Amino acid sequence: MSNDQKNELAVITGASSGIGFELAKCAAEDGYDLAIAANEPDIQAAADKLTAMGVKVYAAEVDLATREGVARFAHAIEQTGKPVRLLMANAGRGLGHGFLDQALEDAQQVVDTNISGTITLVHELGRQMRERGDGRILFTGSIAGLMPGSFQAVYNGTKAFVNSFSFALREELKDTGVTVTCLMPGATDTAFFERAGLTDTAIGQGDKDDPEKVARAGYGAMMAGEGDVVAGWKNKAMAAASGMVSSERLAAQHRKMAEPGSGKS
Ligand SMILES: NC(=O)c1ccc[n+]([C@@H]2O[C@H](COP(=O)([O-])OP(=O)(O)OC[C@H]3O[C@@H](n4cnc5c(N)ncnc54)[C@H](OP(=O)(O)O)[C@@H]3O)[C@@H](O)[C@H]2O)c1
Repeated sequence: MSNDQKNELAVITGASSGIGFELAKCAAEDGYDLAIAANEPDIQAAADKLTAMGVKVYAAEVDLATREGVARFAHAIEQTGKPVRLLMANAGRGLGHGFLDQALEDAQQVVDTNISGTITLVHELGRQMRERGDGRILFTGSIAGLMPGSFQAVYNGTKAFVNSFSFALREELKDTGVTVTCLMPGATDTAFFERAGLTDTAIGQGDKDDPEKVARAGYGAMMAGEGDVVAGWKNKAMAAASGMVSSERLAAQHRKMAEPGSGKS
């Protein structure tokens, strides 16, 4: 059972696996009812596990890369009749390989999911939070957004957008009772690398952070109303270095991590 049943909603996108599932667990532990979404049927299995934690879970299988998918999810949230107290905009996907070697549709899907879907949902629910004068928003950005991502160019660009957007919205909402926080993970041990076609790369094969720890850092920062959090000392060092090194050099370093075949096997 959860510690403290709240009858308020925590909304988490991309909660079927990885960081999003762990964020949903954090909110369930705190007694929030959950509205969760992902694009594939796995969201139901995640909902069953979260329900077993003693909270009510509303699960939606929707494509958040589309306006229609976001609208369906927003409608399902409204139908719960519960106020959204926490909004964790986490759904996202990566894409490896050189830009000109990617299918344009795949690159577009990354933009539509990571940028368009994210801002569409936040526009809808953020207004309600501002009207109520209460709420916490967490974006899952990335330290990838701090560097030009050769062989992951579109993905890093979308995360640069999310990081930047999060700080801008935070400033705009600073006197409204709604806080905005950006979680910037480094490489984290989830399905992300396999789905992005990065398993033969150095970053795909390198050490990774535990998604539970990453999510807990993000959830804690959101609840404390902090502006951002970079989980793990290695990532903190990388984030700090990214501010001191030229973009050209960062792009060259990123090649070593993400170029196809840069892994050991
Ligand atoms: N893993 C890393 O190293 C890392 C580092 C920095 C930031 N991040 C960010 O962390 C977030 C979570 O990724 P993860 O690492 O936890 O990977 P993951 O396990 O693959 O989780 C991604 C989640 O997003 C959902 N999703 C993707 N496209 C969607 C769409 N069009 N509509 C609805 N849901 C969609 C997936 O659901 P379906 O399976 O149903 O599509 C899944 O629930 C992403 O924003 C990612 O960019 C990850």
